[in-house]
Amino acid sequence: MIMSNMNPISLFFLELLLIGLGAPQFIAGDDSQRFAYSGFANANLTLDGTASVTPSGLLELTNGTAMSKGHAFYPVPLRLHDSPNGTVQSFSASFVFGIISIYNFSSHGLTMLVAPSKDFSGANPVQYLGLVNGSNNGKTTNHIFAVELDTWLNPEFGDINNNHVGIDINGLNSVQSQPGGFFHDQNGTFKNLTFSSQEAMQVWVDYDRETTQIEVTMAPLDMAAKPKRPTVSTRYNLSLVLKDVAYIGFSSSTGKINTQHYVLGWSFAMNGAAPAINLAMLPKLPRHHPKGHRYWVLEIVLPVATAIVLLSLGTIAFILVQRHFRYAEIREDWEVDFGPHRFSYKDLFHSTEGFENKNLLGVGGFGRVYKGLLPRSRLKIAVKRVSHDSKQGIKEFIAEIVSIGCLQNRNLVPFLGYCRRKGELLLVYEYMPNGSLDKYLYGKEDNTVLSWAHRFRIIKGIAAGLLYLHEEWEKVVVHRDIKASNVLLDDEMNGRLGDFGLARLYDHGIDPQTTDVVGTIGYLAPELARSGNATPPTDVFAFGMFVLEVTCGQRPVNHQNTEDNQLILIDWVIDKVQKGSFSDTLDARLKGSYDVGEACLALTIGILCSHPFAKARPTMRQVMQYLNGETEPPELSFEMLDLMQNEEFEPYIISYPVSSTSIATMSHVSGGR
Ligand SMILES: *[C@@H]1O[C@H](CO)[C@@H](O)[C@H](O)[C@H]1NC(C)=O
Ligand SMILES: *[C@@H]1O[C@H](CO)[C@@H](O)[C@H](O)[C@H]1NC(C)=O
Ligand SMILES: *[C@@H]1O[C@H](CO)[C@@H](O)[C@H](O)[C@H]1NC(C)=O
Ligand SMILES: *[C@@H]1O[C@H](CO)[C@@H](O)[C@H](O)[C@H]1NC(C)=O
Ligand SMILES: *[C@@H]1O[C@H](CO)[C@@H](O)[C@H](O)[C@H]1NC(C)=O
Ligand SMILES: *[C@@H]1O[C@H](CO)[C@@H](O)[C@H](O)[C@H]1NC(C)=O
Ligand SMILES: *[C@@H]1O[C@H](CO)[C@@H](O)[C@H](O)[C@H]1NC(C)=O
Ligand SMILES: *[C@@H]1O[C@H](CO)[C@@H](O)[C@H](O)[C@H]1NC(C)=O
Repeated sequence: MIMSNMNPISLFFLELLLIGLGAPQFIAGDDSQRFAYSGFANANLTLDGTASVTPSGLLELTNGTAMSKGHAFYPVPLRLHDSPNGTVQSFSASFVFGIISIYNFSSHGLTMLVAPSKDFSGANPVQYLGLVNGSNNGKTTNHIFAVELDTWLNPEFGDINNNHVGIDINGLNSVQSQPGGFFHDQNGTFKNLTFSSQEAMQVWVDYDRETTQIEVTMAPLDMAAKPKRPTVSTRYNLSLVLKDVAYIGFSSSTGKINTQHYVLGWSFAMNGAAPAINLAMLPKLPRHHPKGHRYWVLEIVLPVATAIVLLSLGTIAFILVQRHFRYAEIREDWEVDFGPHRFSYKDLFHSTEGFENKNLLGVGGFGRVYKGLLPRSRLKIAVKRVSHDSKQGIKEFIAEIVSIGCLQNRNLVPFLGYCRRKGELLLVYEYMPNGSLDKYLYGKEDNTVLSWAHRFRIIKGIAAGLLYLHEEWEKVVVHRDIKASNVLLDDEMNGRLGDFGLARLYDHGIDPQTTDVVGTIGYLAPELARSGNATPPTDVFAFGMFVLEVTCGQRPVNHQNTEDNQLILIDWVIDKVQKGSFSDTLDARLKGSYDVGEACLALTIGILCSHPFAKARPTMRQVMQYLNGETEPPELSFEMLDLMQNEEFEPYIISYPVSSTSIATMSHVSGGR
């Protein structure tokens, strides 16, 4: 009944509790004068009132109903005499009981009794314990012997306290009674036992025919043996009380306090010790209030807690797996040397707020660039995500970029470190607050116009940066992608070269026939387009284009109104110079405010560097000397200008798909010319 509305999980736990209790046991004695119950499941008892046997095998005398009573009897009557006019024979009984109450006290108690009848319908509940009523209490016609376990002090019956064990003859005024408890065998000290302590305890009742000694002994269940000294004893000739034919059983009653009285096991024998009750097989007492707290725990708390635990475990596992994949990186042994420059992907992920689009600074030739903030150092960074599948060359690239970046050249964007993932390389640079140069050259707003002084300083800075890569670092590094959008401006508006060394990643080619040409249309030297071989002079060519771009404020290849009408900056500049109107070439947005000598020098350097023949171009060291005024640049001869004009620029420019506004960055050239 209790189980019927339980869910499967709580049933499962209940079954776990029940395993180990074992099945209740019933030993049928010889001519029914001997029995033993270890639990009452399937026992044939005569029950009345609130008495019932629970599914777990407990004999429940009262079920918590207030002012109720219940009785249970061994169904077969005992024959107390061994001859028709004989005396009551010796007998022994033992039982295990427990009282459950929502408080630490209970009402009222129970008795084990021997009586001529099983009919106790006339007895009263409450203080009468279901044994007698107000009118027959103490009457000799009752022929009742009982042992009471009383939890209420009733002065009208001469009770000694609210927790006593008494020997009763025909009524509730005990012949003898003692506080509940037992004497230790070892030292003889008395230990109190509280009946309503929710703990099961065992009671032994022994009657000796010869001495008429009645002894009642009790002990807690965890004590192995019956104490030698009884709790209460008296002499009373039961032959004067009991009839030959008598029933043995229990009575119990409640008052107003919600209480349950249980019997867990019971044994009886005539002329001998009561059979031992198998304590290991006894059903368990319910804890506290059976219909309340305990089942509430089983039915609600347990399943909910289980579900929460499972859910949390699942969530944790999911998060761990997700983190594992989200932040997965590639690390190899050789990277140990670059440890200080290694960033964890997790840090970069968080510093850029998960590579949010709002942090996107730009989409460059090699990948997207995101702005980020390192949480510990509060340093602003720019993170470039470069897709990179090949393992080839990555070790050399990282060695190179780390060692260039470490030298902190003031004309290069400071490189902080890197991170590797599957198919991806992340490069971390210091954030340049003023962005890239092209924004100032071609920006819509007038207030972004750069003064000539700024422009000239930027040209010098980039020349110095490029000189460093070509000649001053331990190896020759070809930048391969010099252009206005790769020049970044620091907080003092100094130009700094970005993306140094990056082009190397794409330089797998020894065989020019299969080389991917890297660079930007308009900045590609003619021989680079033919051979695919990037060299310092190809950088010089791109630098020349860059200088003209900064000076004239125009892109190297400018699509004026229509696609067919491309303006090639170098052609246009040479044309103007030949006509002697060099001031027309300068950026109109300067509004004539510039240093004529410097502007003239810049145009000259731009043209010299853009020479179609690699050998005719100056080196970056020479360019630096011209810019610093240490050496005069050679005169622009008419022969040279003629040559440059006759050299066809168009064919190789047009051989590229120039559909957008010129900044297609990686172009594939199959074969050369
Ligand atoms: C219980 O015992 C009584 C008395 O011996 C008997 O009449 C009855 O049939 C028994 N009931 C069961 C179910 O065994
Ligand atoms: C207690 O037993 C009586 C009589 O069998 C019954 O009417 C009552 O519903 C029971 N109370 C509980 C709480 O089980
Ligand atoms: C038993 O007692 C009755 C009356 O008290 C008596 O008549 C009878 O003889 C006695 N029987 C024996 C065997 O003593
Ligand atoms: C029950 O508990 C209360 C408070 O804990 C205490 O005062 C009282 O004496 C206890 N009663 C019994 C019968 O143990
Ligand atoms: C008291 O109990 C006896 C025996 O069961 C019964 O005969 C009698 O009627 C009861 N008296 C009252 C007042 O209930
Ligand atoms: C008496 O003996 C028992 C069992 O050995 C022990 O638990 C108890 O404390 C002893 N009492 C005294 C007063 O020595
Ligand atoms: C046992 O209980 C009685 C009555 O309640 C009390 O007088 C006595 O002091 C208690 N003894 C011990 C050892 O607690
Ligand atoms: C007990 O009482 C009966 C009947 O009066 C008597 O025959 C018997 O001798 C008594 N027993 C003792 C031990 O006094």
